Amino acid sequence: MILVTGGAGYIGSHAVLALLETGHEVLVLDNLCNSSRLSLDRVALLTGRQPRFIEGDVRDGALLDELFQRWPITAVMHFAGLKAVGESVREPLRYYETNVAGSITLCQAMARAGIFRLVFSSSATVYGESVSMPIREDCPTGIPTNPYGQSKLMAENVLKALADSDPRWSIALLRYFNPIGAHESGLIGEDPNGTPNNLLPYMLQVAVRRQPQLSIYGGDYATHDGTGVRDYIHVMDLAQGHICALERLGRSAGVSVWNLGTGQGYSVLEMVRAFEQITGRALPYRIVARRPGDIAQCWADPSKARVELQWNAERDLHAMLADAWRWQLSNPQGYQHEQAPQAVMVG
Ligand code: NAD
Ligand code: UD1
Repeated sequence: MILVTGGAGYIGSHAVLALLETGHEVLVLDNLCNSSRLSLDRVALLTGRQPRFIEGDVRDGALLDELFQRWPITAVMHFAGLKAVGESVREPLRYYETNVAGSITLCQAMARAGIFRLVFSSSATVYGESVSMPIREDCPTGIPTNPYGQSKLMAENVLKALADSDPRWSIALLRYFNPIGAHESGLIGEDPNGTPNNLLPYMLQVAVRRQPQLSIYGGDYATHDGTGVRDYIHVMDLAQGHICALERLGRSAGVSVWNLGTGQGYSVLEMVRAFEQITGRALPYRIVARRPGDIAQCWADPSKARVELQWNAERDLHAMLADAWRWQLSNPQGYQHEQAPQAVMVG
């Protein structure tokens, strides 16, 4: 059985789906501070299997001890964390406490229970402003410009030191690039709280007139059209990367770092045009000042994961946008819908 912390959230729910589809038993631990348990009901609808769910906090060591005693858990996928950059600047202690101390509490409980296999959600943010593209795993980590990024880098360093101290640990640090999209059914997807900070959730809300227009942060970057370039990756490809990493953990010790990206960068303007094509709706935008802390460009060299995990991102930008749009149309208020919506045909 796999313990999935944060398994009701955006990426976690897609990973739970992928785990169930590959035959794993799953126990989800989530305090629902940024998610709804309806996501897991939808996963059950899709897989025909209801994942077990415990509402609780990853910082609660006694609860973790109880779960590890009660269930035959062999490995942990650790998604539970806070991820809003702006909020992390306003509330740094909450971010360090959840993302760093929460990871430490989890590892302490795992060690007490004799469980040493862990897949950790890291981020390309740990590279900081990397000078050369594409980014390989052996690029030095940079200085993240905000407490969220710092907390991910600190957690990575804690996990590296832990694995160095005890050869029983086998830990995967998965550095995500920019996860977007939704399961192709449109039944599960990203359900941001309040006004979205990230590009695609914001574009979706402009397209359904919940926001008047998109602000493009900066048109004067040293990129081919002046707007920021990122490596967007379909959340189901990301979920599959976790399955591959989990399988690999059974065969190797120590810490391994893998980039999960496509290797292909798209600018904000390219995203806008592709989105307009798929939705058939004009997306009003204006170019405004750069967002503090943003970098010009960032895309992965995913070849290490391709070789070592036999993993490849298979879905293209069209699929990412079409699937996100289907999720948005079927769930205009996210998980606040009472009933599972009907599937919607897109593109
Ligand atoms: P999310 O907010 O949708 O999911 C995180 C889940 O963790 C939520 O369900 C939340 O309720 C839960 N949670 C938070 N604090 C908890 C706690 N103390 N105890 C138990 N549960 C708790 O976010 P996501 O996009 O699915 O991200 C998952 C992980 O991936 C996070 O660690 C995030 O930092 C990391 N990550 C995300 C991105 C991204 O772009 N979405 C990029 C890089 C890394
Ligand atoms: C951001 C975070 C990163 C985090 C990731 C996933 C910052 C500096 N970085 O990455 O730490 O891991 O989200 O949560 O916040 N854009 C617009 N208009 C918008 C929104 C975004 O033009 O309304 C642009 C950005 O300037 C960027 C691109 O779109 O060029 C992608 O932005 P976003 O989706 O927020 O992701 P990142 O900034 O890459």
